[in-house]
Amino acid sequence: MTNPTDTRRDRAYGEILRLDELLDIACVRDEPDRTLFFAAHQACELWFAVILRHVESARDALTRDRADVAAAHIDRLPAAMRVLSGHFDVLSTLTPESFDEIRATLGSSSGFQSAQYREIEFLCGARDPRFLNTPGFTPGERARLVARSEEQSLSRAFVEYRDRVRTDGGLRAAERVRAALADFDDAVRSWRARHAQLAEQFLGAARGTAGSAGAAYLWRSTERTLFPEVFAPGLNGGVVKN
Ligand code: HEM
Repeated sequence: MTNPTDTRRDRAYGEILRLDELLDIACVRDEPDRTLFFAAHQACELWFAVILRHVESARDALTRDRADVAAAHIDRLPAAMRVLSGHFDVLSTLTPESFDEIRATLGSSSGFQSAQYREIEFLCGARDPRFLNTPGFTPGERARLVARSEEQSLSRAFVEYRDRVRTDGGLRAAERVRAALADFDDAVRSWRARHAQLAEQFLGAARGTAGSAGAAYLWRSTERTLFPEVFAPGLNGGVVKN
């Protein structure tokens, strides 16, 4: 039974999630298709933030020789990438007219300027220094990316862990982490392919808002690995074991 003199109360759902503040800044009060377009991008950025936390935790666990903890963090990421791919499915329901109308308001802004996406790549070990100078990054975003380019990557943490392994149990644990990294890498590649498909649907052969070759650029990105120190690019766009 609740005690009527007890003034403490559990924080309610909306308070815990800080929904008033969140919905205040979220793009959810615009014209319906614009809401879909911008809220989908914001949702993706939330997931990028979640992924970053797990990649950091996996890297830190490997430096403490906790391969089991690292694998558990990485194991969550393919499902997160599938959620992210789901956003492309929703976006693909926009009509070409609606997409063109929204695009006309975007100027040169593009997902290419997603600092968190680049942070994920850099933190995993795929570090192309040209992205440090992406036009449109705020000084804060650039500084975050520079910091990522200097900190230990998940690839490096894995390779160093594997090199320290001396026992059969350790070898099995290292193999388990390697398999988790491969699954995550595959899921990111599938996300990139779904993205390229969507760009093809709306842009055809036209260039992207950031000035890239559009869908062709995105298709090429499906050949890259997040973990170049662990998996070398394969001949057929797949990966081979190092
Ligand atoms: C109809 C929806 C979308 C279209 C047509 C589209 C198209 C493109 C194109 C053409 C590029 C290449 C850069 C450029 O020239 O602009 C790009 C890059 C990018 N977009 Fe999208 N995009 C869409 C939705 C999204 C969403 C929902 C996200 C999630 C945050 C996203 C994230 C990114 C990222 C991270 C890049 C950089 C990829 C890389 O450099 O490997 N995009 N997008």
